Amino acid sequence: MDGNGRWAKARGKDRIYGHFEGVESVRAVMEAAVEWGIPYISFFAFSEENWGRPEQEVLALMELMGRTMVGELDNFLEHRIRFVVLGNRARLSDELNASIDRMMAATAGGDALTMILFLSYSGQWDILQAAEKMAHDLMNHPGQPVRPEDLSRHLVTAGIPDPDLLIRTSGEKRISNYLLWQTAYTEFVFTDTLWPDFRKEAFREALEEFASRDRRFGKIK
Ligand code: FPP
Repeated sequence: MDGNGRWAKARGKDRIYGHFEGVESVRAVMEAAVEWGIPYISFFAFSEENWGRPEQEVLALMELMGRTMVGELDNFLEHRIRFVVLGNRARLSDELNASIDRMMAATAGGDALTMILFLSYSGQWDILQAAEKMAHDLMNHPGQPVRPEDLSRHLVTAGIPDPDLLIRTSGEKRISNYLLWQTAYTEFVFTDTLWPDFRKEAFREALEEFASRDRRFGKIK
């Protein structure tokens, strides 16, 4: 969800104002996902690297996320949305973790759309924590062959399908330590649109571009 800071700066406002407006884009994209029957949608809201931002911005973002998620509970229940947070939750405050646990428990039965918020997440961290668990398994079963699925089931995304499409906004063309393992065959769409301007129409365009791609998964059609 890149470009919130630049969007705010262009209007002479503080960066957090861009994050507030970014929440409206999350809402618009989720409404479209429900309308179009998309089963999973995820948002990279805060990376492990984002902890290095000024304390004031980090605190404001955490506050915004806690307040926004709790405020959406009725909306999530009404639309049968399952809310999931994935990432290094040990770094989040007890208060935020308690709100996340409550939201996840309350929406666990949501069967229309799964919304995943990646918080304090990094792809390398995820692979490392999975590798550690896999090493533990191997110590108990030495000599056992190791397949990609064995790592996948220890990633925080276990049980969630790999993404078909990854959209990156604001003209950046990098993966920035997002889902490194899970994006092996993901289609990427890059747009110059800043996240606060990314609404239903921009989402539709990205999906149209995705639909035009020829996915071969390394094979020949
Ligand atoms: C990147 O833009 C955006 C973030 C680091 C935060 C995104 C988080 C939200 C919009 C909150 C969503 C919360 C919920 C609960 C749905 P940037 O700050 O890197 O902007 P820049 O690239 O212009 O500097």
